[in-house]
Amino acid sequence: MIAVRREVNPEGPVGVFDSGVGGLSVLKHIRSGLPGETLLYCADSHHTPYGAKSPEQIQARALTLTDFLVGQGAKAIVVACNTATAAAVVMLRERFSIPIIGMEPAVKPAVAATKSGVVGVLATVGTLKSAQFAALLENYGQGVEVVTQACHGLVECVERGELDAPATRELVRRYVAPLLARGADTIVLGCTHYPFVRELIEQEAGVGVTMIDTGTAVARQLHRRLAEHGLLRPAGGGERFWTSGEVAQAESVVSRLWGSRVTVARLPDKAVE
Ligand code: DGL
Repeated sequence: MIAVRREVNPEGPVGVFDSGVGGLSVLKHIRSGLPGETLLYCADSHHTPYGAKSPEQIQARALTLTDFLVGQGAKAIVVACNTATAAAVVMLRERFSIPIIGMEPAVKPAVAATKSGVVGVLATVGTLKSAQFAALLENYGQGVEVVTQACHGLVECVERGELDAPATRELVRRYVAPLLARGADTIVLGCTHYPFVRELIEQEAGVGVTMIDTGTAVARQLHRRLAEHGLLRPAGGGERFWTSGEVAQAESVVSRLWGSRVTVARLPDKAVE
C-alpha cells in the first residue's frame, strides 16, 4: 500500500477517534497535556461496539474516519480505542505518513505494580482475542498471573450515558468479581469507555485494588511524536466533535462526559456508511 503524503501544517489539528464516546477519556488527557493543540474528535457511535466486529470491519471504519480527519487537516491521528488499535493501527501506519498513535491495555505497568502477583484486564473481546494482545502478554505478562475478562454490554451502557445505573453496576459486579476471586490487586482498564465507570469498578473492587488506564501514556506519546516532527503547537486550543450516530443523543452524552456543553456535528454520509 502507498502512504498518503501531504504537506503537514504544524498549525493543524490533531484527529482523534473511537468507536463512540469512550475515547473522550483519552481526549481529556490530551487536552491537559497538550493545551495548545486544536483537537478533532470523531465518535463512531453508529458503528459501536467495535468489540463485536471483525478486524476487517474495524479496519474499514478506521480508514474512513482517518480519511475524514486528514481531510480536516489533521497533522497526527490518535486511535483512542484499544480494539481499533489492535485491528487497524498497522494498516493506518502503512497508509498514512503522519504520526498515528495507538494504544493497548497497560499490562506492562500493571505487572510492575502488582504485589499479589495477579493482574486483571478488563477489555473488549476484540482486544483480548487479538494477536497484539497475545504479544503483549508474551512480552510483559511473564512471572505474574494475568486474568482477562471481556465486558460485553459495558460499552453500550457508557454510550447511553448510564454511568451509575443499577444495570451498569450489575455488569461491573459480574466482570470484576472473577478478577477479585483470583486475587487480582491491579486492574487494567483496557477499553477507553471504562474510565467513565471507574468509580463503579473501584467500589466493586474495594480498597487495596489499583486501577490503571492508558490515557496519560497516550497523551505523553502524542507529545513526544509531535515534538519529534516539529509539529507541537504552543498556543491555540479548542475542540470540535463529530458523530456517526444521532446528533442530539451525542451532544447530550459527549457534553456530560466532556464536562461542558459542546456542539456535535454529524459526519458526512460517506463517512457514516
Ligand atoms: N473504546 C474501545 C476500546 O478502547 C472499544 C469499545 C467498543 O466499541 O467495543 O477498546
